[in-house]
Amino acid sequence: MPITVNHVVISVSQGDITAWQGDMIVNASNSGLYGGGGVDGAIHRAGGPRIAEECAVIRQKQGGVLPGEAAVTSAGIMTFRGVIHTVGPIWKGGNAGEPMILANCYTNSLDLACAHEAHSIAFPNISTGIYNFPKELACKVALDSVIQYVRQRRIPGLPLQRIEFVCFERDNADLYKATLKTYS
Ligand code: APR
Repeated sequence: MPITVNHVVISVSQGDITAWQGDMIVNASNSGLYGGGGVDGAIHRAGGPRIAEECAVIRQKQGGVLPGEAAVTSAGIMTFRGVIHTVGPIWKGGNAGEPMILANCYTNSLDLACAHEAHSIAFPNISTGIYNFPKELACKVALDSVIQYVRQRRIPGLPLQRIEFVCFERDNADLYKATLKTYS
């Protein structure tokens, strides 16, 4: 069941984020913005070569994206208004600031979505695949940071109306649904 915080509907679904319907989707990328596997591969495949071309421009301009930060490209041939590429932390045991870096991924992506006047945004479960971040902790960090952001309405007149966590795997979808309930 979705919850509503400060007029923003926050929900969880299971599926492929490239098939989601809304304004902007978030990609779990790497610091060089080189298309990879996982959700990154799915987004580049579905959007076509234009996304990689725009990632190359960002790379040339600013040398890439640091963990916790985010950058925007178009969505190529997908119908989204844009793709927000964020770089999650690689899990190194938990003492290298990984939770804070992951929280920054969510808040910096939300800042960019608001700057682009997005009304809706979908997040994958950043860092919980190839980057090996423990799923339960990642879920808590994701929900804490997004809900705190919406509660504080960091951007005056927040344009966002809908935030969805699109979980590829059943266990993550169940975990997010159960955890979201605890915030209502
Ligand atoms: N839609 C939504 N979620 C997906 C999809 C998809 N089509 N495909 C995979 N996922 C999920 C995974 O199941 C996982 O829960 O996205 C989550 C994040 O996993 P990864 O894609 O492996 O991302 P991450 O752990 O952040 O690792 C990033 O992997 O692909 C490379 O270039 C990327 O180097 C970067 C690294």
